[in-house]
Order: sequence, then C-alpha cells, then structure tokens
Amino acid sequence: MDLTLHVWRQPGPQAPGKMVRYEARGISEHSSFLEMLDVVNQGLIEKGEEPIAFDHDCREGICGSCGFMIDGTAHGPLPKTTVCQLHMRHFSSGAELTLEPWRSRAFPVVKDLMVDRGAFDRIIEAGGFISVPTGSAPEANLTPVPKPIADRAFDAATCIGCGACVAQCPNGAAQLFTAAKVSHLGLLPQGQPEREQRALRLVEAMEGQGFGGCSNFAECEAVCPKGISIDFIARLNRDFLKAKLNGAAAEHRGAKGGPG
Ligand code: SF4
Ligand code: FES
Repeated sequence: MDLTLHVWRQPGPQAPGKMVRYEARGISEHSSFLEMLDVVNQGLIEKGEEPIAFDHDCREGICGSCGFMIDGTAHGPLPKTTVCQLHMRHFSSGAELTLEPWRSRAFPVVKDLMVDRGAFDRIIEAGGFISVPTGSAPEANLTPVPKPIADRAFDAATCIGCGACVAQCPNGAAQLFTAAKVSHLGLLPQGQPEREQRALRLVEAMEGQGFGGCSNFAECEAVCPKGISIDFIARLNRDFLKAKLNGAAAEHRGAKGGPG
C-alpha cells in the first residue's frame, strides 16, 4: 500500500518545528505502524536525511513507550490499541495521515514525535508505591483478596503510563493515569495503610507538573489502550477528599489540644 504522511519534525526541544510531507510506498498491510515508519526512516537514511524520531521499546503493547497522534487521535483510530500494535491493514492505500507528538504542556517535545514524560515519573515518585517494610515475601494465602477486588485492582494496574490520556484531554489532565496508580494499590489490603496519604501526595504532585484539571470529557477513557475506566477517577477523588477531611479534622483537634 502507498501512503502520504505529514509528520511533525522538530530537531530539538527549543528548535522550531514544522510539518513535513513524506511518501511511504510499497508498505505491507501486515506491518505495524512503527514498522511502516521504519521503512520510511530507512529511505531517509539512504538519502542521507535525518530519520523521524519516535519512542518505542517492546512493540507488544505493554511497555508504554510508544505513542503519538494519528490524525488527531492518540494511538490512532483503533480502540484499545497502542501504535506499536496498530497494523496498516486498518488503513486504506492512498490514505493521507498526519502524525504529531503528544499535545501537552506537561510533555515537552524532545524531538519529532518523542516527548518527555518525566512528569509521570515525578507523580509516581510522590508515593505511587507501598513503603511499609514488608520483610521477605509473605506467603501468598496469608492475605486473601476477594476475586472481584483483585480483578478491579488488576484493571487499574494495566496502565502502561503511555500518556495518551493526557494527550487527548482538551485540558491536558492526568487524572486517569493518577487514578489508575492510586487505585491499583488502594484497592488491595497491602495498600490500605497509606491509601489516603498516597492519594493526597499523588494529586499534589500531579498539580505541580503543569497538567490541566479534569472536567469529565472522558476523552482519556476513549483513547486509553488499556481501556481504563474513568470510574477510577471517582475513586481517586473520594480518597483525596477523605484525606483532606481527615487532615483538616486532625488539625482542628490539634488546635484544640485534643488527641492527635
Ligand atoms: S491511563 Fe491509559 S492512556 Fe493513560 S497512561 Fe495509563 S494506559 Fe496510557
Ligand atoms: S512499544 Fe511498548 S507499548 Fe508500544
């Protein structure tokens, strides 16, 4: 199949960028979108031109490295699919496609289609883990977890941190990512001791990273390659509000000289 690509080219974070037109000829319909870009890049290298930079690693839809906008949709037109798992048979020969990096103030462009998603790492660093000393690995059956809870926690844990949710959100909000990280720990018994503090810390970290606020567009859920539900955002908001209220109550008790 033959395609025309309009690709955002930007040599570096501070350099001005522009759309550049490329022709992709003789592409196999069985190749993935990234393999199609590999073919285009091979042609550019042979001509002595700079290849198109894009992030990728596993190419199996599990690492969260890949991702860019295809015709304005994060990860392209196929639901619940990362660009590395998107195959060219889902496009028609002769199609004209526009490729752009994630659109978000919190994800500055590194080069071409690559962005810096370090803001996600800084949210996790704020408390997206269980910090109690747990010693050696406990016997698995000592802490029974009901199946529906385990399934729900697993649903949240499937977040691969790709950033599509932020890129598609008109507000550039990171609520779905943060909610997934808070929920997958907060649903399990091992995550209970720090549950409210975790919600508080992650939300505060998120707010400091330049993301916008959530106003329930649900675009994040629509493009999430793991199908993570915005129901988790309701859980995040509930844990965050409980933490705020409990913190305020403790402060009040402290001011009155009562027990902390
Ligand atoms: S919530 Fe979905 S879209 Fe957002 S980072 Fe996680 S996997 Fe990617
Ligand atoms: S390259 Fe790992 S999810 Fe796409």
